[in-house]
Amino acid sequence: SDFLHIGNKLLMWYDKNARDLPFRNTKDPYKIWICEIVFQQTRIAQGLNHYNNFIKRFSDVKTLAESPEDEVLLYWKGLGYYSRAINIHKAAQQIINDYDGVFPPEYEEILKLKGVGKYTAAAVSSICFNGKMPAVDGNFYRVLSRIFADDFDVSNSRAFNYFSELAHLIMPENVGDFNQAMMDLGSEICKPRNPLCGECPLNRDCLAFSLNKTSEFPVKTKK
Ligand code: ADE
Repeated sequence: SDFLHIGNKLLMWYDKNARDLPFRNTKDPYKIWICEIVFQQTRIAQGLNHYNNFIKRFSDVKTLAESPEDEVLLYWKGLGYYSRAINIHKAAQQIINDYDGVFPPEYEEILKLKGVGKYTAAAVSSICFNGKMPAVDGNFYRVLSRIFADDFDVSNSRAFNYFSELAHLIMPENVGDFNQAMMDLGSEICKPRNPLCGECPLNRDCLAFSLNKTSEFPVKTKK
């Protein structure tokens, strides 16, 4: 599309500026899955020790599936949203029982795992298996609504589908890096308040920035 250069610029920025995170040195779908569950709802700085300790204790899907739920919950202590830990434990058993212990590579199969939604399935399939789905979350809503100065209401139930279509307009071949670049851009540069537009690799492509209206996007009518 006419907007592909935006995704390519983002990848060039990511090559130089990707955050150095423990789960960036692996394509092990087990580790990426756990990191996506932890860090979709917990800040990186807040959850990194928990993530590292969890992976040390439960180093693969079999170890996790065979461990008692109590112990999994113990390692989750402090992260909150404990249903995430219970679901992770159940999903590990699903992988053992339904997939012979091999993490399923297909987006549609990953989506069947307990506690896994469209965001997580897209992140794992793209990062680990070169799947072609954008990992659309709040970062995507914010970055895309600003680039296109698009006032589509992110509290609308159709927002996910709407911003998924926008994401496809700028999405390059390397979707795994693209997804992670959007996460880094959204948390480091294109922040909800006081975005660092001077440092943004996409500022020349950003309609909200050129209109001096970044604070007006994303539009959200309901909380
Ligand atoms: N937050 C959730 N998953 C992430 C990832 N893979 N990289 C950076 N931040 C994230």
